[in-house]
Amino acid sequence: MTEETHAVIILFGGSGDLARRKLYPAMFGLFRRGQLCQHFAVIGTARRPWSDAYYREIVSAAVEDEPGATAGQVAAFASHFYYQSHDVTDAAHYTTLKDLAAKLDDQYAVGGNRLYYMAMAPSFFATIATHLKSEALLTSTGFNRLVIEKPFGHDYASAKELNDSITATFDEHQIYRIDHYLGKEMVQAILALRFANPLFKAVWNKDYIQDIQITLAEAVGVEERAGYYEGAGALRDMVQNHIMQLVAYLTMAEPAAKTAAAIHEVKSAAFEALHVYTPAEAAANFVRGQYAAATINGTRINGYREETGVAADSLTDTFVAGKLGVDSPSFAGVPIYVRTGKRLRRKSTQVTVTFKPTTSGLFAGAAPTNLTLYLEPHQGYSLFINGKQLGTTTALMPEELKYRHDPHAAANAPEAYERLIGSALAGDETDFTRWQEVAAAWHFVDAIAAGWADDPTMPTYPAGSMGPSEAFELLAKDGHQWFWQPTHIRLAD
Ligand SMILES: NC(=O)c1ccc[n+]([C@@H]2O[C@H](COP(=O)([O-])OP(=O)(O)OC[C@H]3O[C@@H](n4cnc5c(N)ncnc54)[C@H](OP(=O)(O)O)[C@@H]3O)[C@@H](O)[C@H]2O)c1
Repeated sequence: MTEETHAVIILFGGSGDLARRKLYPAMFGLFRRGQLCQHFAVIGTARRPWSDAYYREIVSAAVEDEPGATAGQVAAFASHFYYQSHDVTDAAHYTTLKDLAAKLDDQYAVGGNRLYYMAMAPSFFATIATHLKSEALLTSTGFNRLVIEKPFGHDYASAKELNDSITATFDEHQIYRIDHYLGKEMVQAILALRFANPLFKAVWNKDYIQDIQITLAEAVGVEERAGYYEGAGALRDMVQNHIMQLVAYLTMAEPAAKTAAAIHEVKSAAFEALHVYTPAEAAANFVRGQYAAATINGTRINGYREETGVAADSLTDTFVAGKLGVDSPSFAGVPIYVRTGKRLRRKSTQVTVTFKPTTSGLFAGAAPTNLTLYLEPHQGYSLFINGKQLGTTTALMPEELKYRHDPHAAANAPEAYERLIGSALAGDETDFTRWQEVAAAWHFVDAIAAGWADDPTMPTYPAGSMGPSEAFELLAKDGHQWFWQPTHIRLAD
């Protein structure tokens, strides 16, 4: 039975896309599981002048199609929502917000617990944190926690500036930085895979692992997000956060306990062990690309520079591939190949660990063993082993052992945002990113970006391919190749 959390949630950006698509359904999930029950209220804020009644219609519309939702549940849930028209840059508005929060605190008997959720453009994060302090919104009873969306800065300097401004109001343990990948089922499953199976635990090191590959492939293009994406690109949008977090989970030592403190201790050490490249190393180990127009099944797909809101001479990377190294005793020398991009052949997030082939004995030269974790859209594992061909032969053949979570059961498991908001309400910091991790990831990414800053060349790849030829050459020069090379295009995902 889930324990109920008592809290007033103040949501900055209550009318926004993230709130409607992710946050209201996530809170509804928590409501149906009982973590949010009687003693909670949500104050949605944004500038537009909505009434409570209209806001509740918006919230209801965002959740009514959730599987199994009843009209009664939706109405009961929406009755906890209140709207406050609020410009985050206007100090006077915080007084009204403070009074409403105090009133709802009494009405719902939440004991001063507050969750402040910044679901707005990052340029407002510091302003909000500063005003929460100057206008004295934080309570002296109960908890005060800040949930902050990505992107956390544009580079190390801006991330540090943002961090300094929010830590003037909240201490590190009150800050819940969201990387929604950490709420995903199969990311959370990495701990179990690595540390609950002596089979893998024994070989999860440089003596046995040949290489690790991480692919975060998107089939869609930039869609309506050019305004944000032009200033970010794949390196900042995907590598600095999601990919770096996966690298840490895959290379960190075993935590001493299943606690947030113990997990963050080993995770921070993994980030510290990342080898930060010199400009020459960055140029040799990272490549970028931009999707070019292609005709697929008779349909012309725009190139990135033709997309609405994209400059005709844009140098924004829609694809990145690179090789990372970790300077830890367990992983030194193991290449970690990563790639991510838009308009790739199809959507999939997957990690493949290739174990070194046997070099002596009966089967010297046999194929390496590959373990793949499928994160999305399907969730599961596949392990390729060397089996023996049927019949009177000793010849080998690759055999695949496969497991896939039942799609129905997987769909009913809490979605990433539901887990993360539930954890923030429960005060569990495990699946949020610490400042040292964010800082280390920016140091790494800044070194790559610096190498590209003055380079006017931009390799292209046709929409529906798996990236520019440079991404394949990157592995070929080490004698490796990408494990996942899909042949069928599914751009509709
Ligand atoms: N959307 C996603 O799928 C997604 C995914 C991952 C991360 N994120 C992150 O989540 C955050 C929100 O993204 P979003 O897509 O939801 O943005 P959005 O749709 O543009 O929403 C922005 C919100 O901010 C409000 N707003 C703008 N200026 C304001 C001001 N001066 N005072 C008060 N409210 C103001 C807007 O309402 P008014 O215009 O009425 O003021 C709106 O509610 C961003 O940090 C984004 O990077 C989003």
